[in-house]
Amino acid sequence: MKILILGQGGREHAIAWKLSRSEIVSQVYVCPGNAGTFHEDKVTNVDITLDQQKKIIDFVKSNQVDLTIVGPEAPLVDGIVNKFRDKGLKIFGPSREFAELEGSKVFSKKFMSRNGIPTANYREFNNLEDAMSHLNQIKYPSVIKADGLAAGKGVVICNEEQEAIEAIKKIFSSEHSQKLIMEDFLVGQELSAIYVCNFNGPSFETSLPWTKDYKSRDEYNSGPNTGGMGAIIHPILDEHKNTIFKLHIEIEKILTKTIIGINEQLKNTNMRYLGFLYLGLMIDQNNDIKVLEYNCRMGDPETQNLMIYLENMNIDFLNLIIDKKHDGNSDCNLDYMNEKKHYSCTLVLAASGYPNAYKKDFYIDLSDINESENLKIFHAGTAMEDDRIKSVGGRILTINTFGSDRQKCINLAYENIKKIRTYTDKEFRNEDNELTFFREDIGR
Ligand code: AMP
Ligand code: GLY
Repeated sequence: MKILILGQGGREHAIAWKLSRSEIVSQVYVCPGNAGTFHEDKVTNVDITLDQQKKIIDFVKSNQVDLTIVGPEAPLVDGIVNKFRDKGLKIFGPSREFAELEGSKVFSKKFMSRNGIPTANYREFNNLEDAMSHLNQIKYPSVIKADGLAAGKGVVICNEEQEAIEAIKKIFSSEHSQKLIMEDFLVGQELSAIYVCNFNGPSFETSLPWTKDYKSRDEYNSGPNTGGMGAIIHPILDEHKNTIFKLHIEIEKILTKTIIGINEQLKNTNMRYLGFLYLGLMIDQNNDIKVLEYNCRMGDPETQNLMIYLENMNIDFLNLIIDKKHDGNSDCNLDYMNEKKHYSCTLVLAASGYPNAYKKDFYIDLSDINESENLKIFHAGTAMEDDRIKSVGGRILTINTFGSDRQKCINLAYENIKKIRTYTDKEFRNEDNELTFFREDIGR
């Protein structure tokens, strides 16, 4: 098969790498890709940007691409899947109508209320005055969310009224969103439950191992929200198997209500949900679960964490997507009922300043790191300049490790991220340790 991956982040590098290791894959294209995908065997970067949808379709036709997989949410919300289908081209991802689950917070909250899916209580506002006058009724912390896509920047946890006022003003002055929701702040631990809803249709969803994403910039969940600073196989999977099993049943119920509800709601489109479905969940101390958000794609950096895991566990990711023969074992989390467990750990190296304005255009030396089965680097905001890796994004790359001991796996990741050197010049004469940072508490 020839496969095209759309996107340029760490998630797309990880997917491209994993698929390139499948025997039935002859070629993986990544559009536009990064310095990491540039270096992988069987993987080729394609110099087309994601907004050039016509060019992408022409590329797929002229290179006889068998399957296209969409990495990020923007092209999905933009309807790239509808366009491919109109042309009879095979693509993995939900169509525009289904991608509203992620594309609009108002849509997803109404959907959850209608379908009895547990989520934080909320109110919707369409104008600044109404939102402001509601502030005397809320308790802090409180959560304000812009309605539309905001590249991970649309959610503000407000600890006091002044923060809420600023968040509301910012949302209503932006051209991207003219609606917002205010919702209760939930306490607990987050869990990313990602499903592959494959070509076989409802009830053939495969649950990938639950992961924990570390969303805030700084240690102990402080600092601003980011796209994710690290990920780990979820610690809840180390608990007693009864706990895992009960959670599994509750999360499956949420998945089923979601799939049935969305297919029913959009039955006039003659389509059904196809693609990745990411349930962002909050688990409280009584193990009660609420949905924080839906994403209609895989997570970043959860994907990097999952791909090194699946590779070492000999699970064929492509097969989960095309799933010619379903083997009946559709939940990777149930492996955690076994005594012998395995772990993966992902650390993000970010540019100083991220998630606000950040440093870029510096050079990265990875030569002290030896990649192995248990250690893999996935690039994100990198590009090649001559033979050097140059930083071009806020989240630069991830270090990903695998092992049968959680703490050793975490230690291996930290030992190696510390081996990365950064320079302001291409000749590697001026080393500067202040150009990047990482969170010190991933895995805790
Ligand atoms: P969302 O895009 O809705 O997932 O929000 C991004 C992040 O903000 C989540 O992963 C949580 O860390 C945090 N968050 C969102 N909603 C809430 C909430 N109601 N209570 C606490 N934290 C939240
Ligand atoms: N890591 C969170 C996300 O991809 O939305």
